[in-house]
Amino acid sequence: GDSTPIISSEETLASLKTAVSDLVSLNVPVVFPTETVYGLAAPALISSAVSQIFTTKGRPADNPLIVHVSSPEMLKSILPSSFVIPSSYNLLMQAFWPGPLTLLFPATPQIPSIITASRDTVAIRMPSHPVARALIQMCNTPLAAPSANTSGSPSPTKAEHVLHNLFGKVRVILDGGPCDVGLESTVVDGLSSDGAIRVLRPGGVTVEDMERVLAVGGVTPKILVHRRDFRDEGLENAPTTPGMKYAEVELNWDYFPLGTVDEPSLTAQRLFDGLLTLERNGVDLIIVEGVEEAREGLAVMNRVRKAAGESGNALNRGMQGLWTS
Ligand code: TXA
Ligand code: MG
Repeated sequence: GDSTPIISSEETLASLKTAVSDLVSLNVPVVFPTETVYGLAAPALISSAVSQIFTTKGRPADNPLIVHVSSPEMLKSILPSSFVIPSSYNLLMQAFWPGPLTLLFPATPQIPSIITASRDTVAIRMPSHPVARALIQMCNTPLAAPSANTSGSPSPTKAEHVLHNLFGKVRVILDGGPCDVGLESTVVDGLSSDGAIRVLRPGGVTVEDMERVLAVGGVTPKILVHRRDFRDEGLENAPTTPGMKYAEVELNWDYFPLGTVDEPSLTAQRLFDGLLTLERNGVDLIIVEGVEEAREGLAVMNRVRKAAGESGNALNRGMQGLWTS
């Protein structure tokens, strides 16, 4: 609950206060750590603050944002008063909140349309990272936040990734260390009248874990997985480089270990760091060994495909290729 003191260090508290002042007094976005990836936050109920997220990221306006809350009370304060939380949501929230699970709820007029991209639903999650929780709690208002990267590059999982990618574009970056999960939250729509649970984006909470929790709770909805994010930030448009060129250059190999194929959660944690680190080292081609699309492997392969723009010709040979410029 919100009464638990989360942050003990004076230095952390001072940094948090600076971030809170930027957010609630100046209404400018700040970067904060979550357990999934770093986020670029603005007060969710202030449209002009949220619009700065879009300009900072170069994000298309038709891609809706996730709203982050720190308590059940804060969640209720932005839901329609008449809305009855479905039993599937109660089970999922009990099991996975705070944590890497985002749920769609009906939007009220209080939620700026810039957040929902004028949809009638709003995506909400309660992050577990102590700095994220403290920040939202101290702001005492929900924060809208996409991943803290310019549109089109992999999400940052370390403060240094943000520093390289958004240098000069944000005033405050709260460094909370490397992200535990390393991939974005699972986005779930359980609002449809057919009672099905639709996984719009696989992520930190696995389909297997959700199935188990729902079954234990006596709810057995159909779980439908959309293997491709219906709308994300244009990584699919990553430039491709013709393989022919490599005949003329000397290849130097650089390795970034992602763990073994039977540790998908470790691979998830390291994937974006690997892509960003290799890209920064100036490599021309990244080859990622494929993993089974089960547990965290489902989200891992979803992000690898997105990074490869589904176009890498290695895709059909069990190896996933990411072409970078
Ligand atoms: O882990 C995460 O979710 C991170 C951290 C910062 O919380 N955030 C994140 O945000 O990944 P972003 O903006 O990069 O991705 C949000 C995803 C997009 O795929 C977006 O289309 C989807 O959530 N989304 C947001 N609102 C939605 C809505 N109303 N209906 C359907 N999809 C929605
Ligand atoms: Mg993103």
